[in-house]
Amino acid sequence: MREKPLVIVFDSGVGGLSVFDELARKGFAAKAIYAADTAFLPYGLRSEAELKQRVPALFSLLEKRFAPQLFVMACNTASTVALNETRKAVQTPIVGTVPAIKPAASLTRTGVIGFLGTPGTVEREYSDGLIAEFAGDRSVLRFGSSRLVALAERKMAGEAVSPEAIETALAPLFALEHADRMDVAVLACTHFPLLRPEIEAASPAGLKWIDSGEAIARRAGGLLQLEEGGGALEPVAVYVTGNADAAMRPALQARGFETVEKISL
Ligand code: DGL
Repeated sequence: MREKPLVIVFDSGVGGLSVFDELARKGFAAKAIYAADTAFLPYGLRSEAELKQRVPALFSLLEKRFAPQLFVMACNTASTVALNETRKAVQTPIVGTVPAIKPAASLTRTGVIGFLGTPGTVEREYSDGLIAEFAGDRSVLRFGSSRLVALAERKMAGEAVSPEAIETALAPLFALEHADRMDVAVLACTHFPLLRPEIEAASPAGLKWIDSGEAIARRAGGLLQLEEGGGALEPVAVYVTGNADAAMRPALQARGFETVEKISL
């Protein structure tokens, strides 16, 4: 039997756990390290220049230390700005995260789609390109929220997140012109699927929220030539750049990660 390949799932914080969950759901026989740049969270408020410098440096460090077979950049904010630079910095293949604009554009019946990401992601040139290519004839309502990132971090730390907090965070999206006709919306930050039940509860009935998690997991499995249901995803360890007493510990333990260690750039 061949040895299980090692995948490193990377995000600024807990968001990549939504992608880890999709990999686990596929039943891939692989080992997984979770790496989070918690010292630099939230990425959505960082400049492009900062991310273009920091993310490749971190991947290079992780590659040297763990020699993975694959990286998953489970972060829209990093992928939309630093994926090319990071690919140049490492030898290991990287699956990036692309906001699900294309599927949203084909699912909508009203022609109005929501694009909910971090403030960085929704304003990126990369996002403009995606919209021009796949949703040029759609009306795309963009809204960037770091508030929801913080709420997802709190939820994963085991704290209660009130319906009012979610409603307040989403209110500016629903206040945009034509939002009443929006029938599909993109969760374009990997933190947000972790709040899916709360976000759905705070949304008008009939609004469908979609994300890229399953597509990322499928692509990762394809690159590693893993079969769905071929085994179980084996959590190995977690590395964070911030305090290793990370608030995310409950969520990590729930997924079978037992150790959280600090790595420094
Ligand atoms: N989870 C990240 C994303 O997919 C970024 C959250 C943040 O650090 O702002 O965009």
